[in-house]
Amino acid sequence: MTLLAHRTRPLWIAALVHRLSGLALAVFLPFHFLALGLAISGEAQLESFLRWSEQPLVKMSEAVLLGVLAIHMLGGLRLLALENLAWREGQARLALLAVVAAMAVAFAFLASVF
Ligand code: HEM
Repeated sequence: MTLLAHRTRPLWIAALVHRLSGLALAVFLPFHFLALGLAISGEAQLESFLRWSEQPLVKMSEAVLLGVLAIHMLGGLRLLALENLAWREGQARLALLAVVAAMAVAFAFLASVF
Protein backbone atom coordinates (compact mmCIF):
# COMPACT_ATOMS: atom_id res chain seq x y z
CA MET A 1 0.00 0.00 0.00
CA THR A 2 1.48 3.35 -0.99
CA LEU A 3 1.46 6.53 1.07
CA LEU A 4 -1.32 8.08 -1.06
CA ALA A 5 -3.57 5.01 -1.33
CA HIS A 6 -6.16 6.54 1.04
CA ARG A 7 -6.83 9.19 -1.61
CA THR A 8 -8.80 6.72 -3.68
CA ARG A 9 -11.16 5.90 -0.80
CA PRO A 10 -14.76 7.16 -1.18
CA LEU A 11 -14.87 9.08 2.13
CA TRP A 12 -11.54 10.85 1.40
CA ILE A 13 -13.01 11.91 -1.96
CA ALA A 14 -16.22 13.00 -0.13
CA ALA A 15 -14.09 15.22 2.17
CA LEU A 16 -12.30 16.68 -0.87
CA VAL A 17 -15.62 17.35 -2.64
CA HIS A 18 -16.94 19.00 0.53
CA ARG A 19 -13.90 21.30 0.79
CA LEU A 20 -13.87 22.21 -2.93
CA SER A 21 -17.65 22.83 -2.99
CA GLY A 22 -17.38 25.04 0.12
CA LEU A 23 -14.58 27.07 -1.49
CA ALA A 24 -16.53 27.34 -4.78
CA LEU A 25 -19.57 28.68 -2.88
CA ALA A 26 -17.38 31.16 -1.01
CA VAL A 27 -15.92 32.43 -4.34
CA PHE A 28 -19.42 32.76 -5.82
CA LEU A 29 -20.87 34.70 -2.87
CA PRO A 30 -19.18 38.12 -3.54
CA PHE A 31 -20.35 37.99 -7.19
CA HIS A 32 -23.85 37.23 -5.97
CA PHE A 33 -23.75 40.33 -3.72
CA LEU A 34 -22.43 42.41 -6.65
CA ALA A 35 -25.43 41.27 -8.72
CA LEU A 36 -27.82 42.10 -5.88
CA GLY A 37 -26.13 45.51 -5.55
CA LEU A 38 -27.30 46.32 -9.11
CA ALA A 39 -30.77 46.77 -7.63
CA ILE A 40 -29.41 49.81 -5.74
CA SER A 41 -27.65 51.22 -8.83
CA GLY A 42 -30.93 51.40 -10.72
CA GLU A 43 -33.78 49.43 -12.17
CA ALA A 44 -32.40 49.51 -15.74
CA GLN A 45 -29.06 47.96 -14.76
CA LEU A 46 -30.72 45.15 -12.79
CA GLU A 47 -33.14 44.57 -15.66
CA SER A 48 -30.34 44.20 -18.22
CA PHE A 49 -28.46 41.83 -15.88
CA LEU A 50 -31.59 39.72 -15.43
CA ARG A 51 -32.04 39.62 -19.23
CA TRP A 52 -28.38 38.57 -19.63
CA SER A 53 -28.96 35.78 -17.10
CA GLU A 54 -31.65 34.26 -19.33
CA GLN A 55 -28.96 32.80 -21.65
CA PRO A 56 -28.80 28.98 -21.74
CA LEU A 57 -25.12 28.95 -20.70
CA VAL A 58 -25.92 31.05 -17.62
CA LYS A 59 -28.83 28.72 -16.79
CA MET A 60 -26.46 25.72 -17.11
CA SER A 61 -23.99 27.44 -14.76
CA GLU A 62 -26.84 28.07 -12.30
CA ALA A 63 -27.68 24.34 -12.41
CA VAL A 64 -24.02 23.49 -11.65
CA LEU A 65 -24.03 26.02 -8.80
CA LEU A 66 -27.24 24.55 -7.39
CA GLY A 67 -25.69 21.06 -7.58
CA VAL A 68 -22.57 22.35 -5.78
CA LEU A 69 -24.73 23.97 -3.07
CA ALA A 70 -26.80 20.78 -2.69
CA ILE A 71 -23.72 18.51 -2.44
CA HIS A 72 -22.12 20.86 0.11
CA MET A 73 -25.31 21.10 2.16
CA LEU A 74 -25.99 17.34 2.13
CA GLY A 75 -22.30 16.53 2.75
CA GLY A 76 -22.29 19.07 5.60
CA LEU A 77 -25.45 17.58 7.14
CA ARG A 78 -23.85 14.10 6.92
CA LEU A 79 -20.75 15.42 8.72
CA LEU A 80 -22.84 17.13 11.41
CA ALA A 81 -24.78 13.88 11.97
CA LEU A 82 -21.48 11.98 12.06
CA GLU A 83 -20.04 14.33 14.67
CA ASN A 84 -23.13 14.66 16.88
CA LEU A 85 -25.03 11.37 16.64
CA ALA A 86 -24.09 7.77 17.36
CA TRP A 87 -21.82 6.15 14.75
CA ARG A 88 -23.62 4.28 11.99
CA GLU A 89 -22.27 2.08 9.22
CA GLY A 90 -22.68 2.88 5.53
CA GLN A 91 -21.06 6.35 5.48
CA ALA A 92 -19.71 5.83 1.94
CA ARG A 93 -23.21 4.88 0.78
CA LEU A 94 -24.64 8.03 2.41
CA ALA A 95 -21.99 10.16 0.67
CA LEU A 96 -22.89 8.56 -2.67
CA LEU A 97 -26.58 9.18 -1.94
CA ALA A 98 -25.73 12.87 -1.39
CA VAL A 99 -24.04 13.02 -4.82
CA VAL A 100 -27.07 11.42 -6.51
CA ALA A 101 -29.52 13.73 -4.69
CA ALA A 102 -27.42 16.82 -5.62
CA MET A 103 -27.40 15.76 -9.28
CA ALA A 104 -31.18 15.21 -9.13
CA VAL A 105 -31.60 18.76 -7.77
CA ALA A 106 -29.44 20.21 -10.59
CA PHE A 107 -31.33 18.25 -13.29
CA ALA A 108 -34.73 19.18 -11.79
CA PHE A 109 -33.67 22.85 -12.01
CA LEU A 110 -32.58 22.39 -15.66
CA ALA A 111 -35.88 20.66 -16.48
CA SER A 112 -37.81 23.56 -14.93
CA VAL A 113 -36.02 26.27 -16.97
CA PHE A 114 -35.77 24.61 -20.42
C1 HEM B 1 -26.26 25.04 3.01
C2 HEM B 1 -25.97 24.65 4.24
C3 HEM B 1 -24.53 24.34 4.65
C4 HEM B 1 -24.17 23.34 5.49
C5 HEM B 1 -25.10 22.34 6.19
C6 HEM B 1 -22.73 23.41 5.64
C7 HEM B 1 -21.97 22.56 6.43
C8 HEM B 1 -20.61 22.62 6.57
C9 HEM B 1 -19.82 21.82 7.50
C10 HEM B 1 -20.37 20.81 8.51
C11 HEM B 1 -18.52 22.15 7.33
C12 HEM B 1 -17.32 21.59 8.10
C13 HEM B 1 -16.69 20.46 7.34
C14 HEM B 1 -15.65 19.72 8.17
O1 HEM B 1 -15.84 19.52 9.38
O2 HEM B 1 -14.63 19.30 7.56
C15 HEM B 1 -18.46 23.16 6.29
C16 HEM B 1 -17.31 23.72 5.80
C17 HEM B 1 -17.25 24.76 4.90
N1 HEM B 1 -18.33 25.41 4.33
FE1 HEM B 1 -20.26 24.90 4.57
N2 HEM B 1 -22.24 24.43 4.88
C18 HEM B 1 -23.30 25.04 4.24
C19 HEM B 1 -23.25 26.13 3.40
C20 HEM B 1 -22.11 26.79 3.01
C21 HEM B 1 -22.07 27.95 2.13
C22 HEM B 1 -23.31 28.66 1.56
C23 HEM B 1 -20.75 28.26 1.95
C24 HEM B 1 -20.12 29.35 1.17
C25 HEM B 1 -20.67 30.49 0.89
C26 HEM B 1 -19.96 27.31 2.70
C27 HEM B 1 -18.59 27.28 2.76
C28 HEM B 1 -17.84 26.40 3.49
C29 HEM B 1 -16.40 26.35 3.50
C30 HEM B 1 -15.44 27.26 2.72
C31 HEM B 1 -16.04 25.33 4.38
C32 HEM B 1 -14.62 24.88 4.78
C33 HEM B 1 -14.29 23.65 3.95
C34 HEM B 1 -12.99 23.01 4.41
O3 HEM B 1 -12.07 23.72 4.79
O4 HEM B 1 -12.91 21.78 4.35
N3 HEM B 1 -20.83 26.43 3.34
N4 HEM B 1 -19.75 23.41 5.84
